[in-house]
Amino acid sequence: MAEPLRIALAGLGTVGAGVIRLIEANGALIAGRAGRPLQVVAVSARERNKDRGVDLSPYAWEDDMTAMAARADVDVVVELVGGSDGPALTLARNALGANKALVTANKAMIAHHGLELAGMAEAAGVALKFEAAVAGGIPVIKGLREGTAANAIERVYGILNGTCNYILSTMESTGRDFGEVLKEAQELGYAEADPTFDVEGIDAAHKLSILAAIAFGAQVDFPSVETEGISRLRAADIEQAAALGFVIRLIGIADTETGANGAPTLFQRVCPYLVPHSHPLARVDGATNAVVAEGNYSGRLLFQGAGAGTGPTASAVVADLIDIARGDVGLPFSVPAAQLTPMARADAGHRIARDYLRFMVADRPGVLAEITAAMRDAGVSIESMIQKGRAEEGGAVMVSIVTHEGPEAHVDRAIELLEGSSSLVEPPLVLQLL
Ligand SMILES: NC(=O)c1ccc[n+]([C@@H]2O[C@H](COP(=O)([O-])OP(=O)(O)OC[C@H]3O[C@@H](n4cnc5c(N)ncnc54)[C@H](OP(=O)(O)O)[C@@H]3O)[C@@H](O)[C@H]2O)c1
Repeated sequence: MAEPLRIALAGLGTVGAGVIRLIEANGALIAGRAGRPLQVVAVSARERNKDRGVDLSPYAWEDDMTAMAARADVDVVVELVGGSDGPALTLARNALGANKALVTANKAMIAHHGLELAGMAEAAGVALKFEAAVAGGIPVIKGLREGTAANAIERVYGILNGTCNYILSTMESTGRDFGEVLKEAQELGYAEADPTFDVEGIDAAHKLSILAAIAFGAQVDFPSVETEGISRLRAADIEQAAALGFVIRLIGIADTETGANGAPTLFQRVCPYLVPHSHPLARVDGATNAVVAEGNYSGRLLFQGAGAGTGPTASAVVADLIDIARGDVGLPFSVPAAQLTPMARADAGHRIARDYLRFMVADRPGVLAEITAAMRDAGVSIESMIQKGRAEEGGAVMVSIVTHEGPEAHVDRAIELLEGSSSLVEPPLVLQLL
């Protein structure tokens, strides 16, 4: 059999230890498919003596992971440490600078520095692969780069964060509030001790910006993803949505438009959406991820599976290694980095949508009239309006409205007109219907 692909592995946590276990367990099968064995040569993490449930004695230990790129006995560096900058980025730059292929699961790093790293990889003629960075075990990057390569992608969207999906589907099935379910998710290991990246939509925005770059040939533009998380949702919103025939899911959506000057613009948004029961994403429960890609010839494709976890994520990392072992260098974003288009952020104001608006209002006469007047003055047409019960929490009453289809700018205007109103106990929540 041919020479092994020699691997340096940085990071031995959930994903890194999973990669070692997978290569050990399926080594013969992998070698058969790759045409040569995958051989881990060196490993690195912070604490050398931590028990990781894997035997590390066959591998050289490096105290300084950033130095692994300089090893002459290594063909490919695998970065499974995390963080957009810091040692992960130094290692990535060192590896590509030393003409070594790089595999990573680090969505934050690719969202922030993907363009630079892709340029380095192409200049060096080596692979940069990051299948595990988006939707864990689901081969969605491969699906987009290869499976739909013949299509113009019209829209890509999906459930990109398992923690949020677990929280939302549990709120739905138990009727409990966000804080309580988050606490339980943390105890069960579905949510981090600091859940900000997940519940505020940042993690999903990282992944969406990577998908959008591949789908539309755009430069990765994480800062222009419009992002709103799930922490403001109440059990009552979920209940209200259910009564209307919807579930609430955190969805990332990207598409392109033609801007005022005729150049393409990029629309990228992560926020909770009301998803009709009939839509396939409405049936995606628990920590699962799902991505929909709409190609102009393929039609609607749905990729669904485990978006995280040691086994599924390791599976995606090792699939990248197998491609490299087979000699597939490829282009990280499907087209040369220099040809990725810098696209301005699309103006969302003219997009047509139906909205769900939730107001927490003071329990006194005239409040509903004030809200409906603002809607009328902004040109928003109301389809239904529900006031739920009598005042509870600090005298506030929940009023929810579903609008007819109309430009987003009109709803924004209505919210502006209500700004500072003493009738509103907190800022309104605005969600769209998918
Ligand atoms: N977990 C998932 O399901 C999942 C899914 C998709 C993508 N990812 C991505 O995969 C990457 C790894 O995630 P993970 O969940 O495996 O993280 P993790 O369990 O926290 O593991 C991180 C590893 O990096 C090591 N490390 C941290 N700082 C280091 C430093 N300065 N020098 C050397 N080693 C350092 C840690 O060492 P010690 O063990 O010694 O502390 C640990 O082994 C991240 O980019 C993450 O976003 C994870």
